[in-house]
Amino acid sequence: MSTREFVAAEGIDVFYGTSQILFGVSLAVAEGQTTALLGRNGAGKSTTLKAIAGVAPPSRGVIRVLGKAMQGEKPHRIARAGVGFVPEDRQVFPEHSVEDNLLIAAKKGPDGQDYWTLARVYEMFPLLVPLKARMGGNLSGGEQQMLTIARTLMGNPSGLLLDEPSEGLAPVIVERIGELLRTLRDMGVTVLLAEQNMHFCLDIASHAIVIDKGQIVYRDTIEALRNDEAVKSRYLAL
Ligand SMILES: Nc1ncnc2c1ncn2[C@@H]1O[C@H](COP(=O)(O)OP(=O)(O)OP(=O)(O)O)[C@@H](O)[C@H]1O
Ligand SMILES: [Mg+2]
Repeated sequence: MSTREFVAAEGIDVFYGTSQILFGVSLAVAEGQTTALLGRNGAGKSTTLKAIAGVAPPSRGVIRVLGKAMQGEKPHRIARAGVGFVPEDRQVFPEHSVEDNLLIAAKKGPDGQDYWTLARVYEMFPLLVPLKARMGGNLSGGEQQMLTIARTLMGNPSGLLLDEPSEGLAPVIVERIGELLRTLRDMGVTVLLAEQNMHFCLDIASHAIVIDKGQIVYRDTIEALRNDEAVKSRYLAL
């Protein structure tokens, strides 16, 4: 397994207007691993992903993508550098078919990667096959979530930032998304997964980072977190 770093933040502060949301957040995601970013509602998970993706630029600190400093870069440049960001508000093109949503996003990765083609994406997301011609706006929440992840993969990113992919979905769809994330992990796809629900992450992620009130309060393996009742009760809603 490679130990190259996919993304890292070092000492980042993020403000929305005058309110400070992140306080010196540092984290690193190794290539080939699935890392869970856990924390309660409002802890700063989405803001951390947005900061890495360039959507909420830090006022202080460093963002790196594959070892390259990225602060001050616009989201499309960070995406080009290899970051596949799947935000919480599933952004599908409602007036385009499922297939067009996928084709619009097709490109090679930053190192010329071209693994993810329409055929491979349909193989990974068989649910989308019968929906090819359906308009993006006419999909269920779960189908939109699948399409958003699938579309991001079509850009052949070096890794994914997934913001609560299971949120608001029926249990059977949550289970499907869990299976999908396990398959991606087994393929060696790098993922930083923001989640409130530790149980969802237990058999998906290898490592866990916990954020609380905009600060990182814990990092270890997910197994260590599973057994740490004090950290779980202090920082996670269980
Ligand atoms: N656009 C915004 N303007 C001002 N404050 C914001 C904005 N977006 C989020 N916040 C605040 O920033 C803090 C962190 O929010 P963030 O969305 O990063 O949390 P989160 O951990 O993702 O929570 P959730 O589990 O609810 O998704 C919260 O206190 C939230 O109210
Ligand atoms: Mg969030």
